[in-house]
Amino acid sequence: ARAATETPITFPRQARPGPFDPPEVLGALREQSPLIPMRFADGHVGWFVTGYSAVRSILSDPRFSVRPERQHPAVDLPMTRALIGKMNGSGMFLIMDPPEHTRYRRALAAEFTGQRMKLFEPKIVEITRTCLDAMEAAGSPADLVERFAFPVPSLVICELLGIPPADRVEFQHASATLFDRGSGIEETRRAFDTVLGFFPPLIRQKRQDPGDDLLSRLIQHSALTDDELATIGYMLFAGGFETTASMLALGTFALLEHPEQKELLRGDPSLAGNAVEELLRYLTIGHIGPQRAATADVEIEGVLIRKGQSVMMSLSAANRDPAHFTDPETLDITKPAGGHVAFGHGVHGCLGGQLARVEMRVAYPALFERFPGLRLAVPPDEVSIKLDAFVYGVHSLPVAW
Ligand code: HEM
Repeated sequence: ARAATETPITFPRQARPGPFDPPEVLGALREQSPLIPMRFADGHVGWFVTGYSAVRSILSDPRFSVRPERQHPAVDLPMTRALIGKMNGSGMFLIMDPPEHTRYRRALAAEFTGQRMKLFEPKIVEITRTCLDAMEAAGSPADLVERFAFPVPSLVICELLGIPPADRVEFQHASATLFDRGSGIEETRRAFDTVLGFFPPLIRQKRQDPGDDLLSRLIQHSALTDDELATIGYMLFAGGFETTASMLALGTFALLEHPEQKELLRGDPSLAGNAVEELLRYLTIGHIGPQRAATADVEIEGVLIRKGQSVMMSLSAANRDPAHFTDPETLDITKPAGGHVAFGHGVHGCLGGQLARVEMRVAYPALFERFPGLRLAVPPDEVSIKLDAFVYGVHSLPVAW
């Protein structure tokens, strides 16, 4: 096996050639080797992984751990600094390994099946319509992020969790602050506390008076404590909101910039499911991580990862790997788009993937049906791109119709 003898790279954060393409250097690194030695922010030498099959192997290998105390930081982001020390509540299964992790995934699995999401679809259709009505009433031009991409997933997750309508405005406001680049660290911390603080009283109230919602069902049918439920409520909210919002806005931008793809989708709504998969693959908004640490010496594709070494993966690079995808640099909603790793893979693979899929499958066609003449209201190179967050996307998307 090859060991880390080459000069390590630092985390590649070079400019992107365009709003939809990852930095070109990722492709160059992948051609060199699917795993490359990398120096982390604290000096630790681990690995950077760009190959599709290597990423899948690591994400499905139980010898790799997600536990934060085993990781070395690869990049220093303001959001992470604001959240340090706040991500360790009981129930934060995102940062647990099996078997601890398994208990939580089992308790939640039934709530996120494709079948359950189908039952929830009429609500998603209704929320989408309400947001489009409000956007139309406010008139052209508009910021698609503010009017559509943010409110749809935020209201959907509120509905799913059973957050009362009267609380949703404050909730949305706090979450917008949480994900806004203009917010300082203190402001972000306060918004985080507001969002976290929502759940304990809500859960106490639902224990006494359960409704027809996910939190009420978990209260009734699982052995989870109120503390665990509060963390899970927050995690579902945070995991499901910015990601889906980003896909809705960036996906719309991509379709507007690929008008032939947009017209294909408009002409044949049965393409929507595949279009969503292809947009997930092509845009891969999770542009930093996931990250794991080896708990034993592991050989992956001829490379020896030593026990204790951190491994940073690039889902963007994996999703453009020509060894797995035909013509990976092209957005083509008609080609088979399955098998991408935009939702990760393995035991931590996205819990809300089916929900996000339904939201997008409903929202893109509804948007273009409502505004057939939808267009950018600024030149494409003036769209403000969001780079300094774990989720890649646009800050705003000025549109007109
Ligand atoms: C995990 C992406 C939507 C909740 C993940 C992971 C990725 C991801 C890449 C794996 C992280 C890792 O391996 O460390 C996305 C994308 C979304 C999306 C691109 C939208 C387009 C959602 C939604 C929800 C959600 C709607 C909740 C309702 C979660 C949770 C986990 C997760 C709870 C952690 C799972 C675990 O550790 O077992 N997501 N996600 N996500 N996602 Fe999503």
